[in-house]
Order: sequence, then structure tokens, then C-alpha cells
Amino acid sequence: MTDHFGYQGRVSVVTGAASGMGRALAEILVDLGASVYAIDRVEAPVEGITKAIVADLGDKSSIDAAFAELPKEIHSFFGVAGISGVHQSYLDTFTVNFIANKYITDTYLRDRVVERGSLTFVTSNGGLRWENPDIREELQPLIDPSGWDGLVSAASAFNDRFGGAVPGSLGYILSKRALNYWIATQVGPLADLKKIRINAILPAMTISGMIGEFAEMKGGMDAVEADLGPAGRLAESVDMARVLAFLGSDLAGYVSGAHLCVDFGMNAQQLAGLSPDRLSWTLASVLNRTPAA
Ligand SMILES: NC(=O)c1ccc[n+]([C@@H]2O[C@H](COP(=O)([O-])OP(=O)(O)OC[C@H]3O[C@@H](n4cnc5c(N)ncnc54)[C@H](O)[C@@H]3O)[C@@H](O)[C@H]2O)c1
Repeated sequence: MTDHFGYQGRVSVVTGAASGMGRALAEILVDLGASVYAIDRVEAPVEGITKAIVADLGDKSSIDAAFAELPKEIHSFFGVAGISGVHQSYLDTFTVNFIANKYITDTYLRDRVVERGSLTFVTSNGGLRWENPDIREELQPLIDPSGWDGLVSAASAFNDRFGGAVPGSLGYILSKRALNYWIATQVGPLADLKKIRINAILPAMTISGMIGEFAEMKGGMDAVEADLGPAGRLAESVDMARVLAFLGSDLAGYVSGAHLCVDFGMNAQQLAGLSPDRLSWTLASVLNRTPAA
């Protein structure tokens, strides 16, 4: 049988592989013959993986220690791990969801990902509208710095502008928008370097370890289930994992810079004016809003 995906005998690294989408992806990659290295804050319980590495993506030294355990050649990297920001601070949320991914790419992946390899990230449909000029302007100072400390200072400075009061849930939106924007900026440099591809999936609400926190934010599971969109059901983690496996594979060999909404058309409906666009706002416009008298 032809190995159309091209994972056989090659190295894949998956963050967030202990639960939800990352775990479902690691299982698929093992099935497709990849040598899978899992990174998570808890040990990934996936049968057949090559190595499960326990690391905290909110901590630079923990990331450095994890990469000391990874091979020098990586074919496909999947940045799946993330936190919702519902019970975490703005800075923790921004660090795990954005800073860690940029730091890992700049410090390790440019060097270790092979010619024609791939980077695929999970952002969110909460990070839509990143391409609006006013939103890009807000994101620019957050994605510009290089190095862990510079990125953390820029993220902290953003919080300071609003008296340190940016909630974790807005940190989530900001982190996913920043990741979407930064991915688009990396298409050229990674192509020039080694024809490496970089893509994202933007999931709609998905049944995973995080669903309880998102439901809490939206006012409970009933509220979530009242708004299921054209699919008529919530996504399963494996719905996302399948698309990740495709984007990271040889089947997507001419795909780079894609922000693929895995939402059964919900964003398309918004773009067509068939349902309301609730995302075209800057964080500053929300945080500066004075409460009604
Ligand atoms: N579930 C949804 O509705 C939804 C919607 C849009 C986007 N997403 C995104 O999908 C991605 C995967 O999340 P999921 O839904 O599978 O949730 P999940 O909670 O099941 O999985 C997230 C995994 O990331 C790991 N992780 C979190 N913080 C970490 C850290 N500091 N260091 C190492 N590992 C860490 C967790 O241990 C967990 O295994 C996330 O980036 C999330 O933001 C989820």
C-alpha cells in the first residue's frame, strides 16, 4: 500500500498529547507508522508512542529540558496544547498558548525540522478576524519580540496598559489571534529556510478535557448545545485530529499559511452575512469601555 500520508518511520512531535485533540492525533499518527514523541504536563497515555515527555509549556527551562530529549531531526511538529483562560491568569494563558509555540519554533524547530517538513498548530475560532487591520495593529507588539523574556515583557506590558486587569478569557482570544497572525508571517521565512510548511486549524467547540471550562464561560452545557451550528452536534476531538493529521502530511504538500476553520461552516456563514460576526473587536475597545452609568 502506498504511504500517501508519509508518516511511516518519520518523527512527529505532538504537544498536549495527554488529552483531547492531541491524544487523538497521537493515536492516529502511531497508526500511520510515525515515531511519535508526546509532550504534555502529564504523561501521555498513548500506546505505541516512542516517548512521553512531561514538561510545562509555561516554563522556558522545562521546554528546554524537553527538547534535550527530542531527536535532532523532526518531520512534523504539532503544537496542540493550550489552556482556556477560564481559571488561569491572562499571562499564563498567553504564555502557554502563544509564547511557548513561538519560542519553540524560533529556538528549536527552525533548526530541527527537516527540508519540506511541517508545523501545524491548533488555534481557535475564538482567534478569528486576526487579519482585520485594527486587530493586527493590536497584535503587532506582542508577536514582534524574539526570545522568551522579550515575549513575556511585551505580553506583560499589554496587561499593564489595562491596570493588570486583562482576564484569562480575553488572554485566550488574544493568544489565539496572535498565533494565527504570527503563523501567516512565518510562511515566507520557513519556505525560504527549508520549504517548511506552517498551518493552523481553528476548531469550533469540541468535546475534550477543556469543554467544561468553555461551557462554564458560556453559561452551562445547555447554552452550548443551544448553538450547535450546521453540524447539529459538537465536534469530537478526533474530528480535529484527522484534519491535523492531513495538514501535517505529504497529502498537504502544497498547503502553507492555511487557517482552516474546522467548524462545519460556521465562519463561512458569518462571512456570508448569514449569521452575526461577534468577533470583529479589539481587546482595547472592550477593555476601555466605560461601564454604563
Ligand atoms: N475544546 C474546544 O472547544 C477548543 C476549541 C477551540 C480551540 N481549542 C484548542 O484545542 C487545543 C487542544 O485542547 P483540547 O480541546 O484537546 O483540550 P484538552 O484540555 O483535552 O487538552 C489540552 C492538553 O494540553 C495540555 N497542556 C495544557 N497546559 C499545558 C502546559 N502548560 N504544558 C504542557 N501541556 C499542557 C493538557 O495537559 C492537555 O493534555 C488547545 O490549544 C485549545 O485551546 C479547543
